[in-house]
Amino acid sequence: MSPPPLNARAWRRRWCGGGGSGSGGGLGRASAPRRWRQRRRLLLRMRAAVALLTMLASLLLFLYLLWLTADGPLSSRDWKGEAKKAVNFSPEMPRKLSVPFAPSALSANRTNLGIKKPLHLTPECKNLQDTLWSSFMKKKRYSEDYYLEIITNVQNCRWQRQPEEFKKFRSKLASCCDATHNLVISQNNTPLGSNMSYEAERASFPIEKGIFRMLPVSQPFVGRPFNQCAVVGNGGILRNSICGAEIDKSDFVFRCNLPPITGNISRDVGNKTNLVTVNPSIIGRKYGELNVNKSAFLNSIATYGEAFLILPAFSFRRNTDVSFEVYHTLHGFKAKQKAIFFHPKYLKSLAQFWRTKGVNAFRLSSGLMITSAAIELCENVKLYGFWPFSKTTNDTPISHHYYDNELPKPGFHAMPIEYREILQLHGKGVLKLQFSKCEAA
Ligand SMILES: *[C@@H]1O[C@H](CO)[C@@H](O)[C@H](O)[C@H]1NC(C)=O
Ligand SMILES: *[C@@H]1O[C@H](CO)[C@@H](O)[C@H](O)[C@H]1NC(C)=O
Ligand SMILES: *[C@@H]1O[C@H](CO)[C@@H](O)[C@H](O)[C@H]1NC(C)=O
Ligand SMILES: *[C@@H]1O[C@H](CO)[C@@H](O)[C@H](O)[C@H]1NC(C)=O
Ligand SMILES: *[C@@H]1O[C@H](CO)[C@@H](O)[C@H](O)[C@H]1NC(C)=O
Repeated sequence: MSPPPLNARAWRRRWCGGGGSGSGGGLGRASAPRRWRQRRRLLLRMRAAVALLTMLASLLLFLYLLWLTADGPLSSRDWKGEAKKAVNFSPEMPRKLSVPFAPSALSANRTNLGIKKPLHLTPECKNLQDTLWSSFMKKKRYSEDYYLEIITNVQNCRWQRQPEEFKKFRSKLASCCDATHNLVISQNNTPLGSNMSYEAERASFPIEKGIFRMLPVSQPFVGRPFNQCAVVGNGGILRNSICGAEIDKSDFVFRCNLPPITGNISRDVGNKTNLVTVNPSIIGRKYGELNVNKSAFLNSIATYGEAFLILPAFSFRRNTDVSFEVYHTLHGFKAKQKAIFFHPKYLKSLAQFWRTKGVNAFRLSSGLMITSAAIELCENVKLYGFWPFSKTTNDTPISHHYYDNELPKPGFHAMPIEYREILQLHGKGVLKLQFSKCEAA
């Protein structure tokens, strides 16, 4: 295998630097008629002519691609419908082509053209993505700017669901982790009298009658597999996204860490919620572990309708009591929401699965946990508000969360690797990342 360029910048340099100091200079030299008189000069001239022809060919190809674009259906209102359409460059492509990725990708590897032709993706986008991914994987450090550059380029390729890739990835997840049977602790997967091993500590918890009775008989997701799922992250990118209507149209909506969804913000984030993760430390911090006054908690979660509140009760010992307290509070007050518990075995095997892909963080983010679950539980997965960057691709600063202005943590921790993996799934057509504003309904 030939070594891919180290980063997108180097790759661009290779394309731009192909004819020495620039294509303009090459053209000028090639058109000087005096040089025909001497043989050595003739040779030089021929070389230049070949270079010119190559460039003309690239240019023609590029124009052809533009022509395809002009013909192509440009509305992406219904992203499910996009799957049926041919993949083409998005309307932004001509503007962005001051960095002409497509022709460079073609001329960089001609043999690739006929051989690895992907079924539906234009070779340009596929090639762009292959090159980006391989350079991605080689990098040790990731800067925001590097990511934003890549995202800018990825955005220029129309997304298309790839059913084969989806099936492949889902079956990998099914064989390691099996969310359809093991996402949450149930009476079916947890025998009465057994010991529940913690996910991240050497300890176990006896499943006695009282605990067993708290568990659903089986996985409680009636209607699975869901057709269209929305996984809503809390990134500040959602502000003014007007994605609310689209999110609410989904068959199943996942959210993270009890985010606010009422008031004007629902225009951007929607208010439908089927499953929401709960970080037990929030219950401690915000609601005094529910020891004194439970009504503030009950009032605030009332906005989630009949959602499941999913808690990592058996990840750490300190999570267990407070998770049970959430269960008893909901149960005791006959709240519409139900508390369910992540199976520690599921989370453990999921962490192992992602570790083989280089995600070595101490813990996966809840965003990646539910994204993984969604791929097993849904046929179409779309991610909103996944944006661990401090600015947009246009350099506009954005808040860390859509609901607060807390600055992103310096150092940009394990998120880059997780984001790399999620971007890759987007590129492969397994899931779709919403990078920008949604179209008005
Ligand atoms: C060109 O494509 C072929 C076939 O996919 C691959 O083996 C080769 O490494 C590629 N070369 C470059 C320079 O990318
Ligand atoms: C569970 O753990 C307890 C205490 O460590 C032990 O006595 C018991 O035999 C275990 N039960 C099972 C089913 O392994
Ligand atoms: C919500 O939007 C309306 C009109 O767009 C505005 O008048 C109102 O102040 C907003 N409310 C909040 C809480 O931002
Ligand atoms: C409990 O909290 C709610 C809302 O925060 C408040 O209205 C209520 O007075 C509190 N009740 C008690 C007994 O402290
Ligand atoms: C969501 O908002 C709509 C109107 O904006 C309202 O009718 C509906 O009850 C809300 N749903 C929930 C779960 O709060």
